[in-house]
Amino acid sequence: MRLRLSPPKSGARKAPLAILPVCEEDLKSGLPGKPFLSEALLRFVGEAIRAESFEAKAGQAISLHLSGENIDCLLVLGLGKRAEFSADALRSAMGEAARRVPKGIPKQEKGAAALLIDPRQEPWSAARQEGAGSGLARLAQAAGEGWILGGYAFLEHKTEEAPTTSLPLELHLLNDGVDLRGLERALRRAETIAEGVTLARNLANAPANEIHPVSLAARAKKLARRLGLNCRVLDERAIRKEKMGALLGVAQGSDAPPRFIIIEYRPKGRIKRPEPLIFVGKAITFDSGGLSIKPAKGMEEMKADMSGGAAVLCALGAIAQLKPAVRVIGLIPSAENMISGRAVKPGDVIRARSGLTIEVINTDAEGRLILADALDYSKRFKPRMVVDIATLTGACVVALGDVVSGLMSTDPETAALVRRAAEACGERVWELPLHKEYFEALKSDTADLKNSGNRNAGAITAAAFLSRFIEGTPWAHLDIAGTAWSEKEGGYRNKGATGAGVRLLVELASQYEKA
Ligand code: BES
Ligand code: MN
Ligand code: ZN
Repeated sequence: MRLRLSPPKSGARKAPLAILPVCEEDLKSGLPGKPFLSEALLRFVGEAIRAESFEAKAGQAISLHLSGENIDCLLVLGLGKRAEFSADALRSAMGEAARRVPKGIPKQEKGAAALLIDPRQEPWSAARQEGAGSGLARLAQAAGEGWILGGYAFLEHKTEEAPTTSLPLELHLLNDGVDLRGLERALRRAETIAEGVTLARNLANAPANEIHPVSLAARAKKLARRLGLNCRVLDERAIRKEKMGALLGVAQGSDAPPRFIIIEYRPKGRIKRPEPLIFVGKAITFDSGGLSIKPAKGMEEMKADMSGGAAVLCALGAIAQLKPAVRVIGLIPSAENMISGRAVKPGDVIRARSGLTIEVINTDAEGRLILADALDYSKRFKPRMVVDIATLTGACVVALGDVVSGLMSTDPETAALVRRAAEACGERVWELPLHKEYFEALKSDTADLKNSGNRNAGAITAAAFLSRFIEGTPWAHLDIAGTAWSEKEGGYRNKGATGAGVRLLVELASQYEKA
């Protein structure tokens, strides 16, 4: 267990590390932590803070080594201004805290990092008003997620680097009248979700000589077996039998055969909503661009072009453990986009599963092709709504950077649900419009439509293309081309794959259950 509540009245227990979160205002009005730390210690901390010009800005932290105290090291953690405090600000700060645990801690085997919170004080007291401890539970979940995710490192291929021993986090919370059961639940939820995000990061950071469609499908099977999900994998023959010509067209240039993964969560007991919620995730295990080849610079990042598929898979893993009373199905079309004498050529016409013919103008617009067949396939389950997630366009990165995912939808209700989930979990989305004029760009001279327009509104025309394969079903599309990968570490993000989408999809399933 990496997250736990401290047993009551254990404030004086020995801890290798204690974390004291502080808002900017606290530096003037007096440091929090009185119930946990002695007057003398607090005075010492106050002096150290002044000496190191610590301002409690978001993400700022200083560590103080203490001798002769029951705490070996105190990490004073900046939360920023009270007015800007939020669950996600806490998630970020705790990510920073995890990254700044001084080397050599813990010295002893046992022990945990103690997060010191007095819920009677700001900024916690406001959340406490939210009723039945729900606000505090939300904060506890965010803190736990941030702690685990900030401590993430991808070291599988580092032969000379010792794995980081990640200290468990213990919440020390003065428990006069707080809902301990709710907090316990929140920590379990944080663990489960952070495990999902971690797994998604591992899959996307893994090199493409390790994760290809066949090995990805094997990982899906393994995960499903471990967590009691149903999983079926269509091999090349079955994909051909399904007439998924768009997926096959993308895959035909590679020596790695495609796979189509179907993974399903079915609640054991009462099903609140029989119509399933379907997630569709793009899993191009490597995107060279095909004959419309990409520039060499940065091409290695295209090992993470399966981030959408990873998000779907790992969200289902988390959902299997959280057990909402709704059916959730994940569809993951997977292929490698490569070059060979057999590869699709610009100008080729392929026939998608739906029957629509597609002129392939640009072989680098391959994500929408494999998603087209998956979206069409989703209809057989008569879903309540379908949400796809994909590292789909560079245009989305230009528009929103790595901060916000693009949201596009033909159904206001589905879009609203996605926005609500995004709000709740701290993964940000911004909706782009899908007016009918955008469909002009997809008119082909030789086929029903073409796979790429001009440069204008690239994220939107990609979504417009997708919408043609899911007509009549409530649908939303998430473009995570920018958010799935981070160039630098910060908050609870590490350099490389971010696991974008996992938290959002898990929260979406919860919101769907409640809606
Ligand atoms: N996988 C890429 C999109 C991408 C770009 C993901 C940057 C992550 C970071 C996608 O398959 C692609 O190549 N899209 C093209 C579409 C274009 C040819 C219409 C793009 O955005 O350039
Ligand atoms: Mn591409
Ligand atoms: Zn791609």
